[in-house]
Amino acid sequence: MASISLLIRQFIYTSLIFLPCLLCVNSTCSCSPSPPPLPSLDFNLTFEDIRLAVVYPIIQSFKKTITADPFNKTKTWVGSDICNKYEGFFCDIPPDNSSAKALAAIDFNGFQLAAPTLEGFIDQLPDLAIFHANTNNFSGIISPNISNLPYFYELDISNNRFFGEFPQAVLGMNNISFLDIRYNFFTGTVPQQVFMQTLDVLFINNNNFKRQPLPQNLGFTSALYLTFANNKFTGPIPRSIGNASSTLLEVLFLNNQLTGCIPYEIGLLQKATVFDAGNNFLTGPLPWSLGCLDSIEQLNFAGNFLYGEVPEVVCLLGNLLNLSLSDNYFTHVGPVCRKLIKKRVLDVRDNCIYGLPDQKSLGECWWFFFYSRFWHCQYPWWLSTYVPCKTYTPFKKAPPVGSKRRLMSYAALGRERL
Ligand SMILES: *[C@@H]1O[C@H](CO)[C@@H](O)[C@H](O)[C@H]1NC(C)=O
Ligand SMILES: *[C@@H]1O[C@H](CO)[C@@H](O)[C@H](O)[C@H]1NC(C)=O
Ligand SMILES: *[C@@H]1O[C@H](CO)[C@@H](O)[C@H](O)[C@H]1NC(C)=O
Ligand SMILES: *[C@@H]1O[C@H](CO)[C@@H](O)[C@H](O)[C@H]1NC(C)=O
Ligand SMILES: *[C@@H]1O[C@H](CO)[C@@H](O)[C@H](O)[C@H]1NC(C)=O
Ligand SMILES: *[C@@H]1O[C@H](CO)[C@@H](O)[C@H](O)[C@H]1NC(C)=O
Ligand SMILES: *[C@@H]1O[C@H](CO)[C@@H](O)[C@H](O)[C@H]1NC(C)=O
Ligand SMILES: *[C@@H]1O[C@H](CO)[C@@H](O)[C@H](O)[C@H]1NC(C)=O
Repeated sequence: MASISLLIRQFIYTSLIFLPCLLCVNSTCSCSPSPPPLPSLDFNLTFEDIRLAVVYPIIQSFKKTITADPFNKTKTWVGSDICNKYEGFFCDIPPDNSSAKALAAIDFNGFQLAAPTLEGFIDQLPDLAIFHANTNNFSGIISPNISNLPYFYELDISNNRFFGEFPQAVLGMNNISFLDIRYNFFTGTVPQQVFMQTLDVLFINNNNFKRQPLPQNLGFTSALYLTFANNKFTGPIPRSIGNASSTLLEVLFLNNQLTGCIPYEIGLLQKATVFDAGNNFLTGPLPWSLGCLDSIEQLNFAGNFLYGEVPEVVCLLGNLLNLSLSDNYFTHVGPVCRKLIKKRVLDVRDNCIYGLPDQKSLGECWWFFFYSRFWHCQYPWWLSTYVPCKTYTPFKKAPPVGSKRRLMSYAALGRERL
């Protein structure tokens, strides 16, 4: 492969030194006899590919803006061997030229670098496809110009200090598949367009998004993993959620301010393994349609205002590992569900089920039922007993063995890299 010597910078520095002298030609000022010292490393570097020579000055000027580097990572960012010597930088063959080599990915996960902005850095790296920077101290806004990067598809800026609106730039990317902005200080609203994109993963938990209803088109997302946890979303879970039935695997709504009844369309999510809407203000009965969640392992509605019976069809689900309904106002559990209580799969503590231990006081239950007479679900009552799947066969599957597999969405509730 041909090597390219980068002499452009040398030329730039040379002209800067002599420029004052040229300006002085017709005046009386004198040129300084000793020009200022030059940054020696910028001279005569030989790059493996012209594309690497192009990104070199961008990396170097970003390096100068870094204000903290506790692990001395940037000390390796010297010389021309970006692909092998620079920690955090990864090269690959670009899609448009199989004989070229380009800077394709950056992984600063856990580097704890601090910089006031990434503007002028990632948006200027033309072949970048992946940028991961979990647990750093980067700040500012995300430049809209990253949407001009033709190959870009993964952005992870989780656990940093970004602020401002939801990064609009992302909406202009036509092939983004992974967006992780959890644990930042984003405010404002979550734009509906994000649910029309090609995302597989959308993690927006633990931000400062303002009180707003969950977008109505949420279910049109192509995402497999969604985390909205620990924000201030309000309003009902959109009924469009059922439209994600062929893709959605894990969804976390926990710790928001969702209201209204649970839409029966959740029962259409045949692939879902995790559905967590704990600690919200949901009310009404648990729809029988949840008995269609054939793949579900973790189902959490703890800490809401749900009432009625825990449907036996839900307790029959063959893959269920944890059905958490504590701190609600349920009044009945049938024999199948009672078996799950014994196995510690079902938690119904802090409800209104008399005869079971650890229930709410009679007084609290009485007050709740007095007021709940005035609350109505938007859908007719019979929908809560409508089962939109083939009739179930009791005990069709062997009871699950406690699985210890790591769930992507719950891992996203921590700050660390995934
Ligand atoms: C630049 O590098 C080449 C080969 O590495 C060498 O032959 C040449 O003398 C160098 N030029 C300068 C000005 O250092
Ligand atoms: C980084 O470099 C400084 C100064 O050279 C040194 O004191 C410190 O121990 C280094 N830190 C690590 C984690 O290597
Ligand atoms: C592909 O990249 C190589 C190495 O950089 C370069 O020499 C060649 O001209 C490029 N081909 C095209 C069609 O751009
Ligand atoms: C980020 O910077 C703040 C102070 O500005 C510091 O307290 C914090 O520990 C830093 N975080 C990381 C992950 O380095
Ligand atoms: C962003 O892109 C626009 C048009 O492509 C350009 O005019 C502008 O200078 C860019 N901004 C930065 C900070 O690179
Ligand atoms: C889109 O992204 C995927 C990875 O998610 C990649 O395999 C594919 O090549 C990209 N397509 C284009 C046109 O860049
Ligand atoms: C969404 O799902 C509903 C049924 O729940 C269906 O009637 C509707 O056509 C679907 N919409 C799209 C765009 O797929
Ligand atoms: C079941 O899920 C709830 C809610 O997410 C959680 O608090 C509890 O620890 C889980 N129980 C087990 C045994 O994993």
